[in-house]
Amino acid sequence: MSQGTSSTREIPEIGSIPKHIAIIMDGNGRWARKRFLPRVAGHKQGVETVRNVIKSCSNHGVEFLTLFAFSSENWRRPADEVSFLMQLFAGALEQEITKLHENSIRFRVIGDISRFESKIIQFIKKGEQLTANNSKLTLTIAANYGGRWDIIQAVRKMMENSPNSPVHFEEENLTQFLSMNYAPEPDLFIRTGGECRISNFLLWQLAYTELYFTDTLWPDFDEKEFDLAIQSYQQRERRFGRTSEQIQQ
Ligand code: IPE
Ligand code: IPE
Ligand code: MG
Repeated sequence: MSQGTSSTREIPEIGSIPKHIAIIMDGNGRWARKRFLPRVAGHKQGVETVRNVIKSCSNHGVEFLTLFAFSSENWRRPADEVSFLMQLFAGALEQEITKLHENSIRFRVIGDISRFESKIIQFIKKGEQLTANNSKLTLTIAANYGGRWDIIQAVRKMMENSPNSPVHFEEENLTQFLSMNYAPEPDLFIRTGGECRISNFLLWQLAYTELYFTDTLWPDFDEKEFDLAIQSYQQRERRFGRTSEQIQQ
């Protein structure tokens, strides 16, 4: 079975470290507001948390980390906030890619990047090429990403790939075209900031993912909070439709 096909058939051992963690980094604006700062100060601080979480994942032997940085719906925010987020993204790409490479991290971006300015697209392409053969941790940034967009683009590619084939197809025919076809499905999903929703993140891939919601705001999500999420995951019994007795055999 290839990495990208459904992981819902294999049961990881209870107590193991999640292979793939996917995070909705939420609460930057509220973190700033609590300090009477502009919302964008929260986004800036949030970048620090990103650095620390990457380190924690590397230290724990997590193989894939996927971070939701900008959703396809975030264009609806005030123009100056969107523009600040774009500059922050460009700056982070420019500064961090070499460091990621030095730490053997493979860098990938999922989402419709065609809407970004050409400087950002260049940084992304260069970063992906430079780090393509690294194998310590795969860091994926979801940028202008939407789960529905992902499924639709996969269906489109699948149909283009075999225009004369019958309409009948299996899960695997589709999953190979999802934008994260190089990774197993997430084992652990974390959302900071207190909201209990998926907000159009990885809709297909989260089918059997363990969900963890915390009120902690993203800029406050430190190593201790990260460890709490891992500990919560390690206590879960993943059954994928089976009974508890079957799992414990
Ligand atoms: C998440 O923090 C960052 C992005 C969506 C880019 P928010 O900006 O959504 O913070 P809150 O939810 O308003 O506090
Ligand atoms: C989800 O956060 C998107 C990212 C973290 C990039 P939002 O703050 O945009 O989500 P909603 O709008 O509250 O659902
Ligand atoms: Mg939010």
